Amino acid sequence: MADYQKFEFDVLVVGAGGAGLRAAIEASAAGAKVGVISKSLLGKAHTVMAEGGMAAAMGNVDDRDNWRVHFADTMRGGQYLNNWRMAELHAQEAPARVRELEAWGAMFDRTKDGRILQRNFGGHRYPRLAHVGDRTGLEMIRTLQDHGVHQGIDFHMETTVVTLLQDGDRCVGAFAYDRERGRFKLFHSKAVVLATGGVGRAFQITSNSWEYTGDGHSLAFHAGADLLDMEFVQFHPTGMVWPPSVRGILVTEGVRGEGGVLRNKEGKRFMFDDIPANYKSQTADNEEEGWRYTQGDKNSRRPPELLTRDHVARCIRREVKEGRGSPHGGVFLDIAWIKARLPNSEEHIKKKLPSMYHQFKQLADVDITKEAMEIGPTMHYMMGGVAVDAESQMSTVAGLFAAGESGAGLHGANRLGGNSLSDLLVFGKRAGEFAAKFAKEHGAGQVNHDQVEEAARRALEPFERGPSGENPYAIQHDLQTLMQDLVGIVRREEEMERALEGIAALKARAARAGIGGNREYNNGWHTALDLRNLLTVSEAIAKAAITRKESRGAHFRDDYPEKSEKWASVNLRVVKSADGSAMVKEAPVKPLPVELEQVIEENK
Ligand code: FUM
Repeated sequence: MADYQKFEFDVLVVGAGGAGLRAAIEASAAGAKVGVISKSLLGKAHTVMAEGGMAAAMGNVDDRDNWRVHFADTMRGGQYLNNWRMAELHAQEAPARVRELEAWGAMFDRTKDGRILQRNFGGHRYPRLAHVGDRTGLEMIRTLQDHGVHQGIDFHMETTVVTLLQDGDRCVGAFAYDRERGRFKLFHSKAVVLATGGVGRAFQITSNSWEYTGDGHSLAFHAGADLLDMEFVQFHPTGMVWPPSVRGILVTEGVRGEGGVLRNKEGKRFMFDDIPANYKSQTADNEEEGWRYTQGDKNSRRPPELLTRDHVARCIRREVKEGRGSPHGGVFLDIAWIKARLPNSEEHIKKKLPSMYHQFKQLADVDITKEAMEIGPTMHYMMGGVAVDAESQMSTVAGLFAAGESGAGLHGANRLGGNSLSDLLVFGKRAGEFAAKFAKEHGAGQVNHDQVEEAARRALEPFERGPSGENPYAIQHDLQTLMQDLVGIVRREEEMERALEGIAALKARAARAGIGGNREYNNGWHTALDLRNLLTVSEAIAKAAITRKESRGAHFRDDYPEKSEKWASVNLRVVKSADGSAMVKEAPVKPLPVELEQVIEENK
């Protein structure tokens, strides 16, 4: 018999980043008894990697902005594969969520007349990102944590879920272990909210830290929930490339929002060379106009560095591939050049981008007020996730909700920068509200003890195989290399087929993974248990990416470089078939209601 501690909640939230905390706060405010599980220490969430701001059409800097423009920008960024109802709710509710955060104590930079300052970001027509320097995600987490701690929420830090508990078709909790002591914990709850973030650790170069192994995606899939849009993986154009130990760490888009430009080794601003037709009318075609735009001139068009992330990342890749890159395999991002325009540029950069200044000074010995940074694409965000109902965030499994990066739908084929923080607030709140409602309306389900025994047995298998088993770190490393090389920024059918064969082989190795030592602080054990999740999401990504035979948003195929009419109105779902394997299904995109068609039309 497995030995475990048992906890009872109305709502269990898995994940303590922005979405998880916001869900927990809402559920608790609705009177639910709430538990939060965090894989890491509180405060260490990928939310802090959304540095540049949260997008909300408050119109503080440009009063032409409103939810309709934000909605249209989000839909265009997502290439119209977005769940339009989520995009509508998000654009409408984001301003209230930002003001609420302010009321809870969040600090923001200010306009001269004291309103929340908003900055430019890629794909947003007007300055829209409420921010505090380049530490916005951090401020958001700090505020939500302070607020949540006072709500009497029960936090379980350094705890990892190994399986969701099911009573028939309903989710009734989670079985987990605490990473510190290695003891099992059973969380029995009436509803579960997954807010575990992304899947970055399936790739070699990523802005995600060790926690992001696709846990929510994989737990939901194995519980029978559908995954959506798994082919859409966002590579942020600007991650650090040097020194090797920090490769992939995010360099905020805020650098470009504040006037930073991209150059190749010849000093050329290559982004002017390739402006997509649908963004031409909004994009500056000369340096002067782009600069004026970043300085708030409403009659100017934005610089090409602020085109959508997928496009900028591919342009950088092209420069590197064609031999015009920087010494360490990236290109140059230059904010120091603004000294030619602003007399106080050094103080200005340090004030607007304090973390970037320190990050480069301390990690790379580069003073960004004087020199250009070397940067390159880094896997940053997963558009794909658990398919949810737009209003409630409930998945296809009763009682199981998902929000933030582990959910899907809002961003379609590509997410605009800054839309993640507002996503976390808008849909975190909704998930918490509806999970609490579900808990109120349903009694506690039954725990299936066979399921618990099986989960405990499987979790301990790596110890039985011992150190002579397959090395879990080696398996993870090989998977990351495979995904980076074969299912990365630019994809081809035969490479992805090879990736699938590789994943099958890695699954077989993972089934033989073994470790030594005991259950306390055993990172080898943790890595062995993460493999199931990493392999599950990698397979889902590769299968969906093979199926979508076109290029759209973040999914670019060398063998199908154009968009296709057929795929314009199809989402892909990855579903669990009877034998447990992942199967890709086409699902027609829900047509837009006439009034939203009009919103898009008027903003074209
Ligand atoms: O570049 C950034 O600051 C990232 C923001 C985001 O991913 O939303």
